[in-house]
Amino acid sequence: MTAVEPFTIRLANSGDDPEIAALVVEGFLEKFRPVFGGRGDNSVRIMEKWIQLEHVSGGVQSLVVESANEIVASVGVRTAESREDVMARGLWRTLTRNLGLPRAFWATTLLSYPRYSAPRDEAYVERLVVTPEFQSAGLGRRLLSAAEILGRDAGKKAVGLHVSGVNVPALQLYESAGYNEISRQRSLMTSYFLNIKDWIYLRKTL
Ligand SMILES: CC(C)(COP(=O)(O)OP(=O)(O)OC[C@H]1O[C@@H](n2cnc3c(N)ncnc32)[C@H](O)[C@@H]1OP(=O)(O)O)[C@@H](O)C(=O)NCCC(=O)NCCS
Repeated sequence: MTAVEPFTIRLANSGDDPEIAALVVEGFLEKFRPVFGGRGDNSVRIMEKWIQLEHVSGGVQSLVVESANEIVASVGVRTAESREDVMARGLWRTLTRNLGLPRAFWATTLLSYPRYSAPRDEAYVERLVVTPEFQSAGLGRRLLSAAEILGRDAGKKAVGLHVSGVNVPALQLYESAGYNEISRQRSLMTSYFLNIKDWIYLRKTL
């Protein structure tokens, strides 16, 4: 898509799912450890299936940044409607298989935040992540603007996303890129278990 030495930004293909999953689990460890439990390999397996489902049935495309044949950053962009029934069934099957029934209920409850249903004119950005050794080098900003181009190309008029109120680097990135706060959801549940009290919904008109 875009090539700026030494990084290449391109659309992900299905072979990239395992690497994207590992990046996402690493980048959101504080969120996923309490949800999926302590075993990292379990979390990566669940995330890989989740990303696969998003690509096949969720209306989501992913972008990746490659450096020396390694994926060092990624973002998901929802530009089409998802088949919620297929997504929900597939995710539930993966959760019960990997976590067992009680923990699967628990994970589903925590993962239901933030609540969101996409307006038709909006692309939705999710799981933006840059591996720690490549952070603060402008990759997050570049991926975000590549995600906006995907949204515009899909005929969307705006881009929306959620960020937790404690994620200062991400909030600064989004605000400096022109995103405005639209609303906040407060959850006692995620406040207690994930240390995330506020989920801020931001939107940028394209
Ligand atoms: C948030 C994240 C994607 C930013 O990616 P990045 O490549 O490090 O960000 P960039 O280098 O493109 O920086 C862009 C802007 O973000 C802000 N920013 C980035 N890192 C920051 C930090 N540690 N503290 C404060 N602001 C920061 C700045 O406004 C920066 O602009 P500037 O360089 O002109 O000051 C990255 O920190 C990350 O992967 N975090 C873990 C996962 C995550 O929280 N994702 C966001 C989910 S909503």
